[in-house]
Amino acid sequence: MVDTVITEDSSSTFFNKKFGEHYHSTYGAIRESRHIFIDAGLMFISHGKKEINILEMGFGTGLNAFLSCNYASANKIRISYLGIEAFPIDLKDAGKLNFPELLETNPDIFLRMHGPEMKYEASEHFYFEKHIGKLEGTALTPKHFDLVFFDAFSPGSQPELWTKEIFMKINKSLKTGGILTSYSCKGFVKRNLKSSGFSIKKLPGPPGKREFLRATKIEEA
Ligand SMILES: C[S@@+](CC[C@H](N)C(=O)[O-])C[C@H]1O[C@@H](n2cnc3c(N)ncnc32)[C@H](O)[C@@H]1O
Repeated sequence: MVDTVITEDSSSTFFNKKFGEHYHSTYGAIRESRHIFIDAGLMFISHGKKEINILEMGFGTGLNAFLSCNYASANKIRISYLGIEAFPIDLKDAGKLNFPELLETNPDIFLRMHGPEMKYEASEHFYFEKHIGKLEGTALTPKHFDLVFFDAFSPGSQPELWTKEIFMKINKSLKTGGILTSYSCKGFVKRNLKSSGFSIKKLPGPPGKREFLRATKIEEA
């Protein structure tokens, strides 16, 4: 179902044949994840905090989780991570990704995220949990998360995931002041976020992408 592709910053990604989409920007998978999810999301929200709860919609290759795990160790903050994934990749495919080598991190930490365990302490600073299933049918703890990585396939190929209904569900699971970062800046995505209790900030994108968005929960949906 997936083909391995090398992107412009030398990091790998997959092309998903069913959805006809890459899991990351072909201008650089690691570069994009760092820019949109780590720098504008995790770094931004973690100021002054010792503990952060992250929800990822679309766990995919696990790159955002792996980068977050490294960030937690480097900055000595405690992260609890929940990745939701409807169509998990298998361990054999995960072994084809070059993230551990490029990030100079023990590959066992990365590969374990794709193994059979659903929850465990991945390191002193990182608690990992994954849920296999669709976000639509997954119950989320109310007012629990500080940060959401919203990383579904594009609004063009998955319009059912970028709706007011889904963003209201996410709003309810976020603490007030919590944020969502995503790579899409489409008009209807922004409108649906705004009508679900978020304020929107457009930020300059990584190479190949003019802008992306960070949404802040300002009111209860
Ligand atoms: C853009 S890719 C994710 C990239 C991922 N964050 C990474 O770093 O590799 C989108 C992911 O969303 C998953 N997905 C698609 N529909 C979903 C749904 N309804 N619920 C949960 N995950 C879904 C896909 O299988 C895919 O892994």
